[in-house]
Parts: sequence; structure tokens; C-alpha cells
Amino acid sequence: MYHFGLIGNPIKHSKSPELHQHFLKDFGVNGAYELYELTHAELDAFTEQVKQDGLMGFNVTAPYKASIIPYLDRLDFYAQEMNAVNTVKLMDGQLVGYNTDGIGYIEALRQAKSEFFNQTKKKILIIGAGGAAKGIALALNDIENFTIDITNRTEEKAIELTKKLKTSQVYDLTEAEEHLGKYDLIIQTTTVGMQPNIDTQIIRLDRVKPQAIVSDIVYQPKWTKFLEQADELGIEVLFGIDMLIHQAAKSFEIWTGHRPNERLLEWLKE
Ligand code: ATR
Repeated sequence: MYHFGLIGNPIKHSKSPELHQHFLKDFGVNGAYELYELTHAELDAFTEQVKQDGLMGFNVTAPYKASIIPYLDRLDFYAQEMNAVNTVKLMDGQLVGYNTDGIGYIEALRQAKSEFFNQTKKKILIIGAGGAAKGIALALNDIENFTIDITNRTEEKAIELTKKLKTSQVYDLTEAEEHLGKYDLIIQTTTVGMQPNIDTQIIRLDRVKPQAIVSDIVYQPKWTKFLEQADELGIEVLFGIDMLIHQAAKSFEIWTGHRPNERLLEWLKE
């Protein structure tokens, strides 16, 4: 019996149980994925309980991605660099923290557009400098022919993030709009456009080149204003739900050693 869960608060509307049920079913194994809506004070008892009665692992979402860390025994490279954990695995009695956001984004992009990973140089603009931006930026930064620039409302946070990256430029949001034409991939990582503020769009996309890809990590709604404008301009888009599915698949793989099959992942996007 595989037994996993999700901690966070609030988590009632999470899509994770549905995704993991599909993965379990596809492997033909018995399992459960449960929601644990915890208060901060309950983290200590929860992690102790996991060690004792053998949850194989759990996902972590807002607001505990950083505050769970003191209760863990070890962190992988990305979790350490990001100071944020979204996946925990119980290994030989120890709780190990991982962060699958960046790798989830890369897998989503690879599945949607494998040509993007050919040898030619690619210029990428990340909008935002929060936790999600950092995970994606660090993972993309490891790919040799990619260079990443950052734009963010608060400049200091953008500058801080670029210190961890190869050569990168920082723009404010207005400057970024003007420079959009030089990017092959533009990734929106802020909460702008997310429910309930669905009528907001962080920057206009008029100057994006036609061969570029425009991506938003917001998945509720699937079609943000940002992606709608890209689509109207005839530009290829990558949805937030794609990243969500792939980061969940990566968690499942960390826990079970099974990689959910690509056809299932494709089907789940619909
Ligand atoms: P997450 O972990 O989900 O990335 P976060 O760390 O709180 O969340 O980061 C939120 C991001 O959205 C930040 O880049 C934030 O910009 P600031 O660094 O200036 O705060 C951005 N953001 C949130 N609301 C915004 C708004 N109304 N306009 C522009 N950027 C916004």
C-alpha cells in the first residue's frame, strides 16, 4: 500500500490528489493520497507521525514550503538553494526534502516542445523573482546554451536572484516590455492573473517575436489574460497546468521510483 499526502493551508481545492490517484491507478498499485490541512503548530507532530507510521512521503504547499525545513533531516540541491521544499520522502527513517518545481517546468517544456532543447543559444526572460521563479531559473540555468534575464516589480529581489545565475540582465517591468523581441521563451511566474484577479496582466506582449514561446505558471484559470494575448498574436503557449502535472509526476517518481507514462501526462492536461 502506497500512502502519500499533501500539507498546506488552505488545500481543499488542490488538484494533487486527483493527479496522484491517476498515477497510482496507472501502475496498478493500491494507494492513497490524503490532504492534511495543518496549522504551523502541528508541523512538528505531523513529521514525527510520518516517521512512525510510514507515510512514504508528502507534498508541501503554501505556506509551509520554507517553514517545514527545520523538521527535515536532509535537503537536495534545489531545495537547499531555494530554501523551499515541495516534496518530502521518508528514507531509512530520515525525512529528505526536495524541490521539483524547476525540473517539473523543464519536463513540461520538453514534452510540449522538445526542439527547444537543441544546441542553439536560447534567451529566456523570467517575470517574477519569488519562490517559483527561483526554482525555474536555477533549473534552466543548468542548461548550457540557455541564458536567463529577470524582470520583477521589486528590483532588489531580481538582482538577488541573478547572483545565482550565469550572466543575466535585470529589467523593470516597463523596460522588459520594450525588450521582449529578443527572447525565445518568456515565463510568467507571478500571481498576477490568478483567480480571483483574472483580469490583470503583468506586461503586454506586443513586441514578442512570432517564433517565441510564452508560458504562464498560473493554472487557475488555464487561459490567463497573458496567455490569451499571446494566442491572439499567434504565439505558441505553455500552460501552468503542464508544470503542475510534471512536478507532481516528479514527486511520484521520487517516492516510488516509477515515472508516470508520457501518454497519461498528456491526457491529464485536457
Ligand atoms: P511564489 O513562491 O508563488 O513565487 P512569492 O515568493 O510570494 O510567491 O513571489 C510572488 C511574485 O509575484 C514576486 O515576484 C512578486 O513581485 P515582488 O517581488 O515585487 O513582490 C510578484 N507579484 C505579486 N503581486 C504582484 C503585482 N500585483 N504586481 C507585480 N508583481 C507581483
